[in-house]
Amino acid sequence: MHFKPNLPYSHVTPETSYLSRRTLMAGMAGAGLVAASGARAQEMPDFEIRGFDTTEKPNTFEEITGYNNFYEFGTGKEDPARNAHTLTTDPWSVEIDGLVERPGSYGLGDILAKVDIDERIYRFRCVEAWSMVIPWNGFELNQLLNLAGVQPSAKYVRFETLYRPEEMPGQRRPILDWPYVEGLRLDEAMHPLTIMATGLYGKMLPNQNGAPLRLVVPWKYGFKSIKSVVKVTLTDKQPLNTWKATNHREYGFYSNVNPEVSHPRWSQATERRIGGGLFASRLATVKFNGYEEQVGHLYRGMDLSKDY
Ligand code: MTE
Repeated sequence: MHFKPNLPYSHVTPETSYLSRRTLMAGMAGAGLVAASGARAQEMPDFEIRGFDTTEKPNTFEEITGYNNFYEFGTGKEDPARNAHTLTTDPWSVEIDGLVERPGSYGLGDILAKVDIDERIYRFRCVEAWSMVIPWNGFELNQLLNLAGVQPSAKYVRFETLYRPEEMPGQRRPILDWPYVEGLRLDEAMHPLTIMATGLYGKMLPNQNGAPLRLVVPWKYGFKSIKSVVKVTLTDKQPLNTWKATNHREYGFYSNVNPEVSHPRWSQATERRIGGGLFASRLATVKFNGYEEQVGHLYRGMDLSKDY
């Protein structure tokens, strides 16, 4: 599905038809019908062909939007759903600066008119050892970076969340050093798995999930996936991300999902799937959250137990 100019990003498909359409398309892809029909291929998300989606059962909309980490709205898992309605997400713009050809303020509407919105079903693994499967809507971050034009000397991308304590009650307390900051190496940022999410289940991204625009990096712990992004800076220095600044012994820059490297206070070998019920057994955590085939090459030669 490609949203085009003048279509608001809230342009949606109801959840049930969304899922049945996906099943239908998966079947068509298997039967070779996708390639046979040019017209249909137009509206086909290309992820099925590229195989980025997990076939694991997605969590429900209620689970994904009712159990969150968004400290700007409180530290409890249900605080964001309760408090994030105060956030104004329209108008919204993203300042892109640093080592780019076309620095400036990019309005969200203008951005969305120039990118291709995909649907991606990704596993999502929090550093706290819980996980979900989330059907995101969004576009590849490389499309946004290419709009601004990355200069050859850029090596990293730094992201910043909105700082607006009037609307974000958590920011009125020194829980973290606000605003929340994250960073990626440029090759991680340009990787096709890395998306800026604008929705989930074909619906506009709910505020508690980081509306209107949040990063999703599926092979890294969830805290890398910074919410409600207002600033993107291309730089030649590794950005200091909020959780590393808060506790560098427990949280690193790379933060790739890795069952072999324990958090100092708990094992990362297994995870609890949200919605599994009280008696469900824990799942084995997979290196790079299952995306090793796609991203393992980015870290060849690195010692991920030291460079975490
Ligand atoms: N981004 C901001 N700005 N503030 C936060 O507190 N929490 C992070 C990440 N992005 C956070 C954030 C953490 S720890 C996780 S696990 C994910 O968001 C949670 O995303 P979800 O609530 O959509 O599942």
